Amino acid sequence: MSQLNENILKYLAENDKANTITLGKYFNEDHQKIVGALKSIQAHGELLLAESISDKKIELTEEGKLIAEKGSHEVNVFAHIPDGGIEQSELMKLPNAKIGFSKAMSAGWVQVDKSCTPPLVKKKVPEIVDTVQEHMRKIMKGDISNITDKEKQEYKKRKLIQEVVVKSFNLTKGPKFSLTLNKLETDLTNDMMLANSWKEMRFKDYNFESLGAPLESGYLHPLLQVRSEFRQIFLEMGFSEMPTNNYIENSFWNFDALFQPQQHPARDAHDTFFISNPKISNSFPTDYLERVKNVHSKGGYGSQGYGYDWKIEEAQKNLLRTHTTAVSARMLYELAQQEKFKPIKLFSIDKVFRNETLDATHLAEFHQVEGLIADFNLTLGDLIGVFTEFFKKLGMVQLEFKPAYNPYTEPSMEIFCFHPGLGKWIEIGNSGVFRPEMLLPMGLPDDVCVIAWGLSLERPTMIKYGLNNIRDLVGPKVDLEMVHRSPICRLNT
Ligand code: PHE
Repeated sequence: MSQLNENILKYLAENDKANTITLGKYFNEDHQKIVGALKSIQAHGELLLAESISDKKIELTEEGKLIAEKGSHEVNVFAHIPDGGIEQSELMKLPNAKIGFSKAMSAGWVQVDKSCTPPLVKKKVPEIVDTVQEHMRKIMKGDISNITDKEKQEYKKRKLIQEVVVKSFNLTKGPKFSLTLNKLETDLTNDMMLANSWKEMRFKDYNFESLGAPLESGYLHPLLQVRSEFRQIFLEMGFSEMPTNNYIENSFWNFDALFQPQQHPARDAHDTFFISNPKISNSFPTDYLERVKNVHSKGGYGSQGYGYDWKIEEAQKNLLRTHTTAVSARMLYELAQQEKFKPIKLFSIDKVFRNETLDATHLAEFHQVEGLIADFNLTLGDLIGVFTEFFKKLGMVQLEFKPAYNPYTEPSMEIFCFHPGLGKWIEIGNSGVFRPEMLLPMGLPDDVCVIAWGLSLERPTMIKYGLNNIRDLVGPKVDLEMVHRSPICRLNT
């Protein structure tokens, strides 16, 4: 049994009654600790009776304490006035001079002598008493006997004192009062049952209000939560996931295979991170490489190409992939190498890298959500149809499309969606039908069309979680508590 519990019971045995605040002062313990001890005694049964009471008490505010220590503002103002008087502006430099001056004026302690230029503040009485300070000191000691109600009102108005409610308990002996506490049993054991000793034992009550122990578990970062939602939607729609575990790609698959000319500005070091070691790739499917070279430089498959001198050195350069469409190109090439073409739906969600100027919404690495469908005779209508279904599952029903340009798609469309929360149309992705100049050199049949689209993962995540700076989502400034707090992501609700 704790010493404090025992002391309280002993006090009660000698005095018959007690109040928890008085006990706190008597034992020199914090009131909260006395109340805690009381609760633990009560858990042992009716040793004592406790009646909850609340009392109003007057307390000094910070300003009241300051006055108790250093004197009232009006007295300080008065004391600062020399016998010959002082300019008011000079006097006002004192701390709390404004209130002090006005109180001293209405008390009739000081006056302004306007016959001088400039006018001077002068003392009107030789001596004063600092009643306010005296009162503050008394209140501090808990003695309010000599302070009138009017004065209390005034101090309250000046915010020198405040009324607080103090809750405490009045204690008396209970029907089972005793000086000692029996230890209560917490578990019913096998031995107690066998020996029949449980009948004599006293058990501790269940505490139905105690909180359960917090579960130790990990938390998914919002980006990963949104990613698993996207993945779920693709899987529901019958898509298979592409392998995206190669951040490093070469220019051939990232650009050339996608009919992106070698002079295209995106292929500049300003936009792309090139790798210095290993600087180049050497292994390419030779026949296919030849056909890509030809379609760029001379044309073919009904296209006139770009008509420039295509260089292998440019295609060999290694880089951090700038889009996951590089992976799509590899997958479509493999598809074309199969004996018989089979329609396919593919998706991926993974990291890409661009040499961007960093700002609140752009980082040099981000995630792309990419989808493609390869089938016979697909049209723009199919593309729009698939989007309507795909974005409906994301909770986006108002869609609009804007013609766009990509070297590898024709036609190309930017996808916009109306965001009711933000109250405006926002761009969510880019899409199109892959060009014959990309698909036919791979060896895909003439009548196979591939529709494809790409989105960023960060954008919908920021909107969903109400973040407006990407650095709150990614990077060293991420608040781990944010990850902990973020609710499960449900995109269509
Ligand atoms: N690769 C495009 C981008 O990075 C997205 C895209 C994918 C566009 C497929 C059309 C087709 O923005």
